[in-house]
Amino acid sequence: MLTVRQYVPADADLTIHIFLRAIREVASKDYTQAQVDAWARVEDREAWAKRRSSRPAWIVQYGNVSIGFADLVPDGLLDMMFVHPDYQGIGAASLLLATIEAEARKQGIQRIFTEASLTARPFFERRGFRVLASQTVEKRGQTLENFKMEKFLGETAATS
Ligand SMILES: CC(C)(COP(=O)(O)OP(=O)(O)OC[C@H]1O[C@@H](n2cnc3c(N)ncnc32)[C@H](O)[C@@H]1OP(=O)(O)O)[C@@H](O)C(=O)NCCC(=O)NCCS
Repeated sequence: MLTVRQYVPADADLTIHIFLRAIREVASKDYTQAQVDAWARVEDREAWAKRRSSRPAWIVQYGNVSIGFADLVPDGLLDMMFVHPDYQGIGAASLLLATIEAEARKQGIQRIFTEASLTARPFFERRGFRVLASQTVEKRGQTLENFKMEKFLGETAATS
């Protein structure tokens, strides 16, 4: 039932929708209301759309419904990974990550790294990422804790 397709520019609004709802309804269990309010905002739709189109990105679908997205910057940064609250825990992010890892290998990227939320940290840890550091980032006057994490793809290839 879950499939992945490439992001197209017409997906900009749905990715904004998923981003906002995932923070407000899922990540909100790990952050205060003030932090959520500061994080869950997209003030410049055009800048968002431009950013999404500027690197490879993928949409995960449940049947015909687009339920999540993720991207991969050429240096190995997994910048965004968000899944709609109504479709948590069914493997959507796992499929996105498998897609990203396959693409990274194809491009010769050996290390993927991300800044994982408190909410996403266990997900990435179970999939071979390790925490490099915890950090606080500033968003619109609020400070939020997240984790610099990385995964070397060579290690996975060697053990699988
Ligand atoms: C972190 C996140 C991307 C994971 O997405 P997901 O599609 O639910 O992930 P998956 O279904 O592939 O895996 C979730 C894991 O939780 C388990 N799970 C079970 N029930 C669950 C539920 N009701 N909700 C969430 N996860 C559940 C899954 O079985 C799986 O366990 P495993 O890691 O042992 O295999 C998603 O929770 C999310 O969007 N969070 C909020 C936004 C966020 O913090 N994004 C990351 C920013 S860096």
